[in-house]
Amino acid sequence: MRATSLLRLLLICFYLLSIHTFGAAGVGDKLEKGQNLTDGDTLVSAGGSFTLGFFSPGVSTKRYLGVWFSVSNATIACWVANRDQPLVDKSGMLVFNDLGSLVLLDGSRRTVWSSDFSGGASAAAAQLLVSGNLVVHNGSSDVSLWQSFDHPSDTLLPDMKLGKNRWTGAEWQLTSWRSADDPAPGDYRRTLETKGLPELVVWRGNVKTYRTGPWNGLYFNGVPEVSAYAGKYPLRATTSPWEVTYGYTAAPGAPLTRVVVNHTGKAERWEWDASSWAWTRIFQGPRDPCDEYGRCGPFGLCDPEAASSGFCGCVEGFSFGSPPAATPPAQEVKGTTCQRHAALDCAGGTTTDGFAVVRGVKLPDTQNASVDMGVTLEECRARCFANCSCLAYAAADIRGGGDGSGCVMWADAIVDLRLVDMGQNLYLRLSKSELDDHKRFPVIPVAIPLASIVIILLVVFAIWWRRKRTIIGAIPQSHAMAVPLVSLAIIKDVTGNFSESNMIGQGGFSIVYKGQLPEGRTIAVKRLKQSVLTTKGKKDFAREVEVMVGLRQGSLVRLLAYCNEGKERILIYEYMQNKSLNFHIFGNVNLRASLNWARRLELIQGIAHGIAYLHGGSGDNVIHRDLKPGNILLDDEWKPKIADFGTAKLFAVDQIGPDQTIVVSPGYAAPEYARQGNMTLKCDVYSFGVILLETLSGRRNGGMQGLLSHAWGLWETNMIAELLDTTMVPLSESEPELLSKLTRCIQIGLLCVQETPCDRPTMSSVVSMLTSTASQIDRPRRRPPLDREGFVPSDSSHGLETELLIPTTTIDLT
Ligand SMILES: *[C@@H]1O[C@H](CO)[C@@H](O)[C@H](O)[C@H]1NC(C)=O
Ligand SMILES: *[C@@H]1O[C@H](CO)[C@@H](O)[C@H](O)[C@H]1NC(C)=O
Ligand SMILES: *[C@@H]1O[C@H](CO)[C@@H](O)[C@H](O)[C@H]1NC(C)=O
Ligand SMILES: *[C@@H]1O[C@H](CO)[C@@H](O)[C@H](O)[C@H]1NC(C)=O
Ligand SMILES: *[C@@H]1O[C@H](CO)[C@@H](O)[C@H](O)[C@H]1NC(C)=O
Ligand SMILES: *[C@@H]1O[C@H](CO)[C@@H](O)[C@H](O)[C@H]1NC(C)=O
Repeated sequence: MRATSLLRLLLICFYLLSIHTFGAAGVGDKLEKGQNLTDGDTLVSAGGSFTLGFFSPGVSTKRYLGVWFSVSNATIACWVANRDQPLVDKSGMLVFNDLGSLVLLDGSRRTVWSSDFSGGASAAAAQLLVSGNLVVHNGSSDVSLWQSFDHPSDTLLPDMKLGKNRWTGAEWQLTSWRSADDPAPGDYRRTLETKGLPELVVWRGNVKTYRTGPWNGLYFNGVPEVSAYAGKYPLRATTSPWEVTYGYTAAPGAPLTRVVVNHTGKAERWEWDASSWAWTRIFQGPRDPCDEYGRCGPFGLCDPEAASSGFCGCVEGFSFGSPPAATPPAQEVKGTTCQRHAALDCAGGTTTDGFAVVRGVKLPDTQNASVDMGVTLEECRARCFANCSCLAYAAADIRGGGDGSGCVMWADAIVDLRLVDMGQNLYLRLSKSELDDHKRFPVIPVAIPLASIVIILLVVFAIWWRRKRTIIGAIPQSHAMAVPLVSLAIIKDVTGNFSESNMIGQGGFSIVYKGQLPEGRTIAVKRLKQSVLTTKGKKDFAREVEVMVGLRQGSLVRLLAYCNEGKERILIYEYMQNKSLNFHIFGNVNLRASLNWARRLELIQGIAHGIAYLHGGSGDNVIHRDLKPGNILLDDEWKPKIADFGTAKLFAVDQIGPDQTIVVSPGYAAPEYARQGNMTLKCDVYSFGVILLETLSGRRNGGMQGLLSHAWGLWETNMIAELLDTTMVPLSESEPELLSKLTRCIQIGLLCVQETPCDRPTMSSVVSMLTSTASQIDRPRRRPPLDREGFVPSDSSHGLETELLIPTTTIDLT
């Protein structure tokens, strides 16, 4: 025993000695006084992750001193010394000067860069640490006189900080390169804002371009997706009398990572993927148009799903000044700002105002907000209520769960508010009249059989008709399945003249209102936006309706009636109490929990049945074209109801020009459609696959296909079960059957999202795979086969597809 431990000790001593010897020779990770480092020499951190030396970025021939990742073939520099003082040749040299500073000299021995530090200390050594930090110290003490982590370039590594040293006033910030080949400070900076709540902001000059939303105790409120890798790279924000900083660390064994503000102003997180020997981008912000700072103006609310309305709306109690009705929606927004409907009533210590909740948002800019971490949300409300200049409040910390704690109060405009998955609630001060208005429309659960709704509508129609004594329309009798054509006047009647308070949803092409029938029953009234309806779409509307009403299946939402009067095109559906799938699977923990695993599996089956029916079960081959969780409604028994089938075709198809939004939402569009516009049944299969994977993982795929690449990665490493939504109650050991059902389901999802359309199964075979547990299923393949033939549909069934809209319409309703 004793002998072996002595041996071990000797070995350790030898090891330490050998490291020291390397250092003394100027090889390894250290440069000492009297030594020099010339172009071609490098220092390599212990463990080998980082290299310091001279390099030329991209196509540039200029030479820079920097620290880069040793692994990647291309030089990915994470720190550059002489950013705006490039050397023109390879004659640079790094040495200690007589004053004891580390300096970079050019060919004529002029100083182009130096590690400045104050005080009379004299540096004797520079060392590249395991973390990639270059530190300069006096040789005998570990206290650094200077370190590169205090002078960031465009990259934040684990253990670095952004923010402010309150003691010295020093600030740590990232500055982008000027271009991919030029490390000189560029247009963009990324800082930690320290007024209000801490949050990361990208600036272009003095203008904010993107913010992450305030720190909520766990992550930055506007980017909840970072919690997906918070286990690997724990985030931390520190607020103390000494500093307000943000940084992250790397858990042991986690892959190399870096956060960069790129020369185009994008904040990105990259992760080294050793298996593919490449960097993978796992986060990028801004992500979508709603991340553009202040896009919708003060009191605006940006909705990333509302592309056709320019993404912008106003918070409750506000609306755009007076939008010119005739102009396209994107222009509507410009030049108009949200105006308050009814003035607040608060003065001299009394008020009749109240608060409305704006749910699920990235909280507005807190630059001018006042923050108190030490109170409850209830006290926060009381304070805001009592102070007439308080316009809104929210919880400042969500760690305790529930509604959160702490208090942030806004006294000036609400700026840069957007909807975001797992967002927070903002409580907005509104006049009493606005709030009363809101309360008039309680949610009434309903599930009305088709027959009774038709009867109700007919009764309403009859009453109205008698009252007006005017003939307003004809109910088509030609078709056994005909759906009632109702007049605009009736619809106005049941929706309070399309009152804003009855608005329950806004999609790209339509606004959905809740309608109250005389006995208090509820219907969903979908008013198509005329501004985006194509000329052809208008013509084909009636035919479309006729086909839609012929489609009847338990998983499709039922069309109850329609209106086609003047310029109005309106569809009336059953009202779905439980909103849409995205609301639950991407919502907060409680919303997610409302869909347990068994329910999710049932939902997926139901959706598959519905699409299979669209794809041929009805006799027609109907392509939905815009399948996404937002189009899957849930009834009061959590059964899925596919909505919007066919309507996507009414829009935009003949409008797709150079800068038009494509109809299918990014993240759900099959690659062949996104690339070449080939719309086939297999595009729906692809979208279904994405929905399936999103439903089980609780994560959005997004335009960058983040979820899919994650899922393929797990699949290839046999860890597919890790895709399952981690916010759900973990599967217990006693449920091996459920786990195998779930992984089988994921495998089916991956089959559906294969690159090559003909590799994807048909929806009917998806249904049989989902319903039988015994049958063997194929192993999905990630990569497309090399021959491009794969993109040509070879399946004979493709030729039989008919688009829902048949241009040779004979019905004329004008
Ligand atoms: C740099 O160091 C090498 C030995 O390591 C030495 O031969 C050379 O003279 C030094 N150059 C300068 C300019 O000090
Ligand atoms: C990087 O270099 C390695 C080893 O030399 C090589 O296998 C790999 O293909 C290279 N990767 C790229 C993207 O050039
Ligand atoms: C280095 O600094 C430490 C304190 O920071 C001091 O005690 C020590 O004497 C210094 N060594 C040299 C060689 O200057
Ligand atoms: C910067 O971001 C843009 C936009 O995402 C991307 O195309 C580009 O490759 C990035 N540049 C660098 C140097 O990472
Ligand atoms: C904060 O106040 C300053 C000074 O009044 C103003 O310029 C700025 O726009 C305000 N910021 C926000 C986000 O409201
Ligand atoms: C009311 O709020 C404003 C803005 O936050 C603040 O300046 C003022 O001190 C508050 N008044 C009282 C009485 O708390």
